[in-house]
Amino acid sequence: MSRLNKADRPYDVVLFGATGFVGGLTAEYLAAHAPDGLRWAIAGRSEERLRRLRERLPGAPEVGVLHADVSEPASLRALAERARVVATTVGPYVRYGDELVAACAESGTDYLDLTGEPEFVDLTYVRHDARARETGARLVHACGFDSVPHDLGVHFTVRQLPEGVPLTVDGFVSVDAAFSGGTFASALGQLARGRQLRAAARERRRHEPRLVGRRAVAPTGAPRFAGEVGAWALPLPTIDAQIVRRSAKALDRYGPDFRYRHYAAVRHLPVAVGGAAAVGALAVAAQVPRARHWLSDRLKPGDGPSAEKRARSRFSVRFVGEGGGRKVFTEVTGGDPGYDETAKMFAEAALSLALDELPQVAGQVTTAVAMGDALTGRLRAAGIGFRVAATR
Ligand SMILES: NC(=O)c1ccc[n+]([C@@H]2O[C@H](COP(=O)([O-])OP(=O)(O)OC[C@H]3O[C@@H](n4cnc5c(N)ncnc54)[C@H](OP(=O)(O)O)[C@@H]3O)[C@@H](O)[C@H]2O)c1
Repeated sequence: MSRLNKADRPYDVVLFGATGFVGGLTAEYLAAHAPDGLRWAIAGRSEERLRRLRERLPGAPEVGVLHADVSEPASLRALAERARVVATTVGPYVRYGDELVAACAESGTDYLDLTGEPEFVDLTYVRHDARARETGARLVHACGFDSVPHDLGVHFTVRQLPEGVPLTVDGFVSVDAAFSGGTFASALGQLARGRQLRAAARERRRHEPRLVGRRAVAPTGAPRFAGEVGAWALPLPTIDAQIVRRSAKALDRYGPDFRYRHYAAVRHLPVAVGGAAAVGALAVAAQVPRARHWLSDRLKPGDGPSAEKRARSRFSVRFVGEGGGRKVFTEVTGGDPGYDETAKMFAEAALSLALDELPQVAGQVTTAVAMGDALTGRLRAAGIGFRVAATR
């Protein structure tokens, strides 16, 4: 791994897609919380919209404005070469994201995004992991609610359990929140791309070295009443379990034989059944182009829940970890998962990559592998709860 010399780049952090819904929240968070002296810029395709955004940021004159458009690959290369860390909200990533990952891998620039799209993550692994390892770039996907609380929550849970023994962790997610146009577009796009998703996963398996001498799995659990959390547990087929499994593969601390299962926790059975039916109906509708377009017109890109709605939103992820004769109950909690807390996680992850002493890793890595305790510490300081509820 050769770390390119990045000290002479003009920016520590560049936020691409700053004019979008989460981009705007992330820019506001950085403006309010970045340490003095951080050299950072907002980037996007409309300089006029970027300048308008900058006017409402505290410390505005110091924030750079950079033009970049995903349809102009040269502008993405220029962006990657001017920054030590690039954080992008420009999604759906499977449609817009690949060229920027390529540019960051090539120029040794640390990259992070908010994707929850497994197909995209598998494709970038196949295409760019090897080059990023050579240049020293850290490519960290899923730095929002997908998958930070889950990945770091399991990392935190594992550290409460004995070392060197088989471990199991179950995660139970509860959210009370609405979502934005950008997220809805990404979710619909994913539901329509089952075939491509499976092909990308197969391609990744062909390239990725197998784990030798240890085991790390994330099977889909069966729906059940989970007495340990007092709720119905429905298997949650999001990217989170895959991310957790990759952290477990990379980190010996997860033990010789690790299993993670990821669930939505729903208190009342009719809500569980209704929720599963709604997702099923959406998945069917997403296969039909006219229905998909009609649905995507319901929520436009750039739209999102109001500040009042977000202020009432909450999430919690409860974990039950077991191994070596010990059982631990832990919890990660916060406010609005999709936006305010996502912007916080994303901005803190960008700051962590730019400023913290971190393990020397490169290529496609998870938040737990790249930032682990440093990011957990930052998020705790920023108001996200990581706590041990009980041990036995
Ligand atoms: N992981 C999570 O928990 C989580 C949570 C929230 C969101 N997300 C994901 O984050 C992404 C952004 O969500 P959002 O709600 O903020 O979406 P959004 O409001 O639609 O913002 C998208 C951004 O992409 C920019 N963009 C679109 N086409 C572009 C192009 N050709 N060149 C440069 N920029 C371009 C837009 O610029 P303009 O302003 O110029 O249109 C805008 O800044 C989505 O993929 C969503 O799924 C993930």
